[in-house]
Amino acid sequence: MRLLIGVAVAICSAFARKHPCFDNSTTLFAAVENAQLILTGTVVRMTVDVEKKSLLTGVVRVKRVIKGSHLIGDQRQLTVFGFGDSAICESFAHKSDTKIFLLSQRNESFYLNSSLVPITLKNLDVVNAAITGKLAIVCLAGRAPVAN
Ligand SMILES: *[C@@H]1O[C@H](CO)[C@@H](O)[C@H](O)[C@H]1NC(C)=O
Ligand SMILES: *[C@@H]1O[C@H](CO)[C@@H](O)[C@H](O)[C@H]1NC(C)=O
Ligand SMILES: *[C@@H]1O[C@H](CO)[C@@H](O)[C@H](O)[C@H]1NC(C)=O
Repeated sequence: MRLLIGVAVAICSAFARKHPCFDNSTTLFAAVENAQLILTGTVVRMTVDVEKKSLLTGVVRVKRVIKGSHLIGDQRQLTVFGFGDSAICESFAHKSDTKIFLLSQRNESFYLNSSLVPITLKNLDVVNAAITGKLAIVCLAGRAPVAN
């Protein structure tokens, strides 16, 4: 029981904490809400963007789709634009990096919508909880500060 409460407190605070990164201003919770497609995956290739030379385009091998599976169907590899976007901190990735990717879709293409998120148990818990909305209730009930 004590362990459960500890875990809940840890997740609630991660959920509400202003991360130094996500869109420079929001929390992981807000970033999860904004993203249309969220998945875990590994970068298989990085190339310089054909149109915007300051940006990189990545091919990502999809491991698990967490949100928006209808957007990619059964595609197991995805081209993602916008790596290195200066409007998004921690938006650089290298070949072989495995991350949680928060993406949005524009013109049939997928763009990085938020900072790359390291795959940790805590981050996955926050992402899943933000999607199911369950944690919001738990955290609000516990009067922990919640992202607005
Ligand atoms: C976000 O932060 C990065 C540095 O981490 C900075 O270069 C960029 O200008 C910031 N973007 C916005 C929109 O404030
Ligand atoms: C979508 O594509 C059209 C035509 O290629 C272009 O004019 C428009 O700026 C694009 N929109 C976005 C959000 O990239
Ligand atoms: C993220 O996607 C939302 C729409 O889903 C859009 O309004 C927002 O501008 C995007 N942010 C970035 C940094 O691309």
